[in-house]
Amino acid sequence: MFNHQDISRFESIETPFYYYDLDLLRRTLAACKMAADQYGFHVHYAMKANFNPRVLDAVRNSGIGADCVSGNEVKKAAEIGFDPGNIVFAGVGKSDREINDALGLDIFSFNVESIQELGVLNGLAAARNKIARVAIRINPNVDAHTHHNITTGLEENKFGINTWELAECVKELKQSPNLEFIGIHFHIGSQVTDLEVFKSLCLRVNDIRNWFEDHQLHIRVLNVGGGLGIDYHHPDEKAIVDFEAYFKVFDQFLERRHGQEVHFELGRALVAQCGNLVSRVLYVKNGQKKNFLVLDAGMTELIRPMLYQAYHQMENLSVLKLAGNERNTTRYDVVGPICESTDCFGKEVEMPVARRNDLIVIRSAGAYGEVMASGYNLRDRVTSVYSES
Ligand code: LLP
Repeated sequence: MFNHQDISRFESIETPFYYYDLDLLRRTLAACKMAADQYGFHVHYAMKANFNPRVLDAVRNSGIGADCVSGNEVKKAAEIGFDPGNIVFAGVGKSDREINDALGLDIFSFNVESIQELGVLNGLAAARNKIARVAIRINPNVDAHTHHNITTGLEENKFGINTWELAECVKELKQSPNLEFIGIHFHIGSQVTDLEVFKSLCLRVNDIRNWFEDHQLHIRVLNVGGGLGIDYHHPDEKAIVDFEAYFKVFDQFLERRHGQEVHFELGRALVAQCGNLVSRVLYVKNGQKKNFLVLDAGMTELIRPMLYQAYHQMENLSVLKLAGNERNTTRYDVVGPICESTDCFGKEVEMPVARRNDLIVIRSAGAYGEVMASGYNLRDRVTSVYSES
């Protein structure tokens, strides 16, 4: 929710830019930490969702760890002060250089995604006289019931080791003296809003944990990944996710034996609602079939609507500033300036009649927004503005 002061401030800034509400971010992180602590759960932040330096500072200060998917993310996390003992490194394609860098930092765990990777990691660790802690990422074949482009836990997805490969995996682990097996890792997909899906995951994890223990491999860590979705339709009323309800599912359905630790890797739920993309109307094109609102932000600043048909609420802030209901509404296809037909934030969106230079804010854009920006069409890099200096 933006007040007149925010809007006056935005009017003086060149658009497009990301606007982060750092107070909301801190409150979200605190709510998550408090709910997790209650059950003794450990949370890592999936840095891929947003690695803006101010966002990372807030996460680090909250006491949450870092979940990384590239060597550069691992290095950045360590550089800005995340404790290496609180950094995990996943990814199907870790290069030798990335593995070596992470070995040098002595991170908490490598989440290994293939049997071949186990061999490579063991070899690289041996060459440096190190022992690498390893969690095996397993593809549990659980349907996350989310958009197919952000589903990761089905057999058709490239992630993790399939359950039918586990016997070979155990054999490899037992003959790898430079690997210390610490646990199992799962991540079934993103923007999961049905908590029943997490219950199914818990039941599957229980079975797989039993299988490992039957094979004399003790499990210290159960890492259940991230994926908790947010409410894109209610960015103000549902600004902070119900972390309590989410963790409760795991407390209820995930069996923990002999002090097993439960780890989470949340991205979107922590940072989505604190970020907004602020843009201006460049042109209003009224046609016979359609009206187009052409913004100065496009898929180069926020690609989620184009890539996943994702909904983001859009608001005309210039209208909010008017005293009464002084403009009628109409329907627009809200588009960006990029030379691609898919460069569209929403079709037939009912909005107040717009004028050139009106400020349009695209809500819930803090996760997978700024970090997925590109320079296509030789666009300027999008800038960021914060609720406090
Ligand atoms: N852990 C692993 C291994 C992951 O691959 C991901 C996300 C997460 C944790 C964090 O998931 P989250 O809590 O944020 O759902 N660009 C897409 C989302 C891609 C998610 C990739 N992996 C989007 O904009 O919807």
